[in-house]
Amino acid sequence: MTVIGTGYLGAVHAACMAEIGHDVLGVDVDVEKVTALREGRPPFYEPGLDDILIQALASGRLRFTTSLREAALHGEVHFICVGTPQQAGSRAADLRYVDAVVDGLAPHLPASCLVAGKSTVPVGTTARLTARLARLTPAGVRAEVAWNPEFLREGFAVEDTLRPDRLVAGVTSRAADETLRRVYAPMLAAGVPYISTDPNTAELVKVAANSFLATKISFVNAMAEVCDAAGADVVTLADALGHDSRIGRRFLHAGVGFGGGCLPKDIRAFTARAQELGVGPAVAFLDQVDEINKRQRDRTVALARRLLGGDAAGRRVTVLGATFKPNSDDVRDSPALAVAAALHRLGAEVRVHDPEGTANARRAHPELHHTSDLLTACRHTELVLHLTEWGEYREVDPAKLAGVVREPVLIDGRNALAHDEWRAAGWTVKALGRPS
Ligand code: UGA
Repeated sequence: MTVIGTGYLGAVHAACMAEIGHDVLGVDVDVEKVTALREGRPPFYEPGLDDILIQALASGRLRFTTSLREAALHGEVHFICVGTPQQAGSRAADLRYVDAVVDGLAPHLPASCLVAGKSTVPVGTTARLTARLARLTPAGVRAEVAWNPEFLREGFAVEDTLRPDRLVAGVTSRAADETLRRVYAPMLAAGVPYISTDPNTAELVKVAANSFLATKISFVNAMAEVCDAAGADVVTLADALGHDSRIGRRFLHAGVGFGGGCLPKDIRAFTARAQELGVGPAVAFLDQVDEINKRQRDRTVALARRLLGGDAAGRRVTVLGATFKPNSDDVRDSPALAVAAALHRLGAEVRVHDPEGTANARRAHPELHHTSDLLTACRHTELVLHLTEWGEYREVDPAKLAGVVREPVLIDGRNALAHDEWRAAGWTVKALGRPS
């Protein structure tokens, strides 16, 4: 098989497919990425990926190339794992990379094969690509397109790929279904649910899942706003809600909101696609989900400003965490960096600390001070904002940190630190949705 696109999704998929015994060729247009992967160096931080990558390379079952022609000759199954970012100036998904894979692969395909998309795409993409592929493949070659969405979470990507909650296959033929069942045979043998359906449904499962998760987060963040107005506690509220097994506690963590390369752009692309389909009103609530989410960033900035006495200009503040979530170096649409940049625009001198994301954060926001040394980040600061809940922040000794800052004032934007301990060490602690 081939795995085309070796970003967060593709690199993990390629290594895991080799791990379960397939002969995998990973493909990327980025020469630097391919070079790093060939040397067993993941081009991004993902726990466990380095080990599995090195093992797969050593087994001889995993190779990398930049050539789509070589890929066409290698694969019986071609997995498309390229990005589908938000289009500039629109809410819709930008499908140019997916299209480029099909265009580059098709003319070289020597025999019938399966092209299985894993990227998150608007419903209807499989049908569109089927027609595109049919126009471009050599006479006599029949390539089928299927959609097999991926549900992995960054930070748990290897685990989620090897032991997924479910597999979804959107196929138009029994042969395609059998091919995908063969690919995932070890998972099926381990009892992973396998849902075989049509491509439209498979494409929709993915966007519906991410929309539901985003809605759950914005729901609890909306409750946090009400808690602030009413003097109630959103964490206790979420705990109590979560005991109802129909609701569940997961994805009810209130705070600065969701970011990353998936949830924000997926809900926007979904609303854009629904409008094209004439069912915009059916998912109009996702605009609210997006608005509530953005508001948590603004509310965090406003809280910081209040704690600084109404004016951030010239004030020194520290943001703990740059990545959109812990255990990742991904800073795409990071709430932490959005808040840091907003405080900088208000004139604050902002230092950003992150254990793994400093290089990416610096590239995205060169106007901020970045460091991977916690004490340097906090020295003489007047306000600490905890905005990405890395495990190491829970290990911090609040008394020790109180000794290096100018003012021991903390905003816990993830509701993940032990507030009682911080208060006992002399800190003023504030959080969205919590009574002070
Ligand atoms: C998300 C989905 O969870 C995956 O299932 C999906 O495969 C992936 O998108 C994708 O489409 O590729 P991911 O973006 O890695 O995965 O991150 P999540 O764990 O979903 O977190 C997203 C954001 O929500 C983070 O910024 C996180 O801090 C925030 N979040 C999460 C909350 O603010 N509260 C919560 O309770 C949970």
